[in-house]
Amino acid sequence: MESVLVTLVLIKLRKIIIMSNVNQKTSGEKFIPYMEGKLIYLRPLLKSDLNENYLKWMNDSEVNRYMDSGSFPSTMEDLQNYYTTVALNPNNIVLAIIENGTNEHIGNIRLGPINWISRVSNFGMMIGEKSKWNRGYAKEAISMVLKYGFNKLNLHKVCLGVVTENIAAVELYKTVGFVIEGNSIKNSFINGKHVDSYYMGILKEIYKASVKNN
Ligand SMILES: CC(C)(COP(=O)(O)OP(=O)(O)OC[C@H]1O[C@@H](n2cnc3c(N)ncnc32)[C@H](O)[C@@H]1OP(=O)(O)O)[C@@H](O)C(=O)NCCC(=O)NCCS
Repeated sequence: MESVLVTLVLIKLRKIIIMSNVNQKTSGEKFIPYMEGKLIYLRPLLKSDLNENYLKWMNDSEVNRYMDSGSFPSTMEDLQNYYTTVALNPNNIVLAIIENGTNEHIGNIRLGPINWISRVSNFGMMIGEKSKWNRGYAKEAISMVLKYGFNKLNLHKVCLGVVTENIAAVELYKTVGFVIEGNSIKNSFINGKHVDSYYMGILKEIYKASVKNN
């Protein structure tokens, strides 16, 4: 009787090991980097990333404090919609930011929409996992994306809009070479009041010069 039980346990264990190998293989796509950094790597956003964790970021008032995305509650359907209409749209490059070592999906970064005639791209990013803020992850991700945009896609300029009160983002963009090009007065409504936004941009030649000097 005892030996039968041991055999049954062994068969069950073997099944678990085989299944975990199968799962690793089928989700292997998750771990293929497109761009690799010291702290994080970037890979395309996958359908399997549309999970509870990602949904949690989109409904976190602190993460979305300065972004329009926080104005309405997000559902899984909204994430799927974003995936189909934005991430899979060839005028956007949407990449998942993955922490090296843990392989944890901690945020997203986007070049786009890209105007292929002027070669000017919009830009946006989010580190959704708040516990991962202030570790240099955003700076590394944006540096990799700018290198890719200018050297591979031959972009001429990358630009963005940011609420002036979003100090972390404004300072981050300045550290990688973006400059404030203009100020839009009271064009965002944040926490009960209208606030200003900056237009920030970085030209290819400025980027090239800053990389040369660093
Ligand atoms: C803004 C955001 C992307 C910064 O991400 P992060 O990974 O914490 O940033 P990093 O650790 O890479 O910081 C890089 C640089 O940004 C600046 N910075 C980041 N957080 C800052 C803060 N709270 N105050 C001032 N500067 C800050 C610093 O210059 C820093 O460089 P340093 O550490 O050498 O001083 C992150 O806070 C976030 O996703 N916020 C919510 C979404 C959002 O606002 N996105 C931007 C929309 S325009």
